[in-house]
Amino acid sequence: MIVGVVKEGFQGEQRVALVPAHVDGLRKAGFEIWVQKGAGEAAGYPDEGYRNRGCRLVESREEILRGVDVLLAVRAAGANPTTGREDAKALKEGCLVIGQLDPYTPDDSFDTLATRKASACALELLPRITRAQSMDVLSSMANLSGYKAVILAAEALPRLFPMMMTAAGTLVPAKVFVIGAGVAGLQALATARRLGAVTSAYDVRPAVKEQVESLGARFIELGLESKEAETIGGYARAMDEEFYRRQREKLGEVIAGMDVVITTASVPGKKAPVLITREMVEQMAPGSVIVDIAAERGGNCELTKPGERYTYKGVMIIGPVNLASTVPFHASQLYSKNITTFLLSIVKNGSVELSEEDEVVKSVLVMRQGSFLNDLIKPK
Ligand code: NAI
Repeated sequence: MIVGVVKEGFQGEQRVALVPAHVDGLRKAGFEIWVQKGAGEAAGYPDEGYRNRGCRLVESREEILRGVDVLLAVRAAGANPTTGREDAKALKEGCLVIGQLDPYTPDDSFDTLATRKASACALELLPRITRAQSMDVLSSMANLSGYKAVILAAEALPRLFPMMMTAAGTLVPAKVFVIGAGVAGLQALATARRLGAVTSAYDVRPAVKEQVESLGARFIELGLESKEAETIGGYARAMDEEFYRRQREKLGEVIAGMDVVITTASVPGKKAPVLITREMVEQMAPGSVIVDIAAERGGNCELTKPGERYTYKGVMIIGPVNLASTVPFHASQLYSKNITTFLLSIVKNGSVELSEEDEVVKSVLVMRQGSFLNDLIKPK
């Protein structure tokens, strides 16, 4: 069987789905590997690395799409509005596509995949179970986003993060507040603390209090946290507008005293809840910074402009998109480990077997040989 990797087509995407270090494992499992020339270049993985591991380097994207049995991608189908549809059209009939496919906001590239009798695994849908941890692309990428959000904040803040006692006086440490203490939020807390900031966090899920405190941060309780805010899978549940209104009221007092606010609150498949309004931003001191990691899903701050940074009444508002792609070397390394672990888990006796008795496969398999298996992507 042939596994293929093309240069990511989504605008600005710098990651690559497979890095040379993980080629050996796939070859041992019996796969031949084709890589489009230059596929890993933007991430810091030149062609040479793939060639040395026995991959076939191919000039033409089309040749790979037409020739491979399994396509590994960072973004394909709905997650790649730039070339997702065109790529789907060119696929070999019966091809298996594995990657982030954005099944929550599907476009007609899924219909095109169906015409190619393709099978598709959307890695965003991996269950949060122990066995799937090493395949969990969302956690890998969120971890890097949390780190990078703090770096952006530190660079934009007109103050330092750490306390400094100098001959010219004492500098007080920055106060960093994180809303949403999931994977990205916890990494943001850890990174900000390493830089010397005084850290605190809030989340609707009371279960995270202990994790927040284990990172030396204070968990701020608003009296709204509830076990019902958490799904069985560990994600936050969407709450009603009255809940969000009360939350904003209480959060306003907290963020008014912060130098940096990092927001990561999201609910899978839904628009991110608005937790910071214009009025709340107006209460913040000039020079403070908001980094809204939820920008891609609409943002947790009413004033966020996805992909932009600007100052509103002295407060810098940063709405980064695709943050993991800004650290493409390590992002690709982690992603490649996740995706190859998944692929190797479905290889049985030298061929790929998509058994729906396997909980992991059942969760991610949205299409089998052109048939829609998941309501999320079915044509409406
Ligand atoms: P996410 O990216 O979907 O959301 C980020 C955070 O925002 C979550 O902690 C969520 O509770 C919070 N949030 C949502 N609405 C909010 C609101 N209105 N106010 C405040 N906070 C709000 O979540 P992520 O980071 O993907 O993971 C969620 C949880 O899943 C993790 O904390 C962990 O418990 C669990 N997990 C389990 C894994 C496993 O393999 N067992 C792996 C990764 C995560």
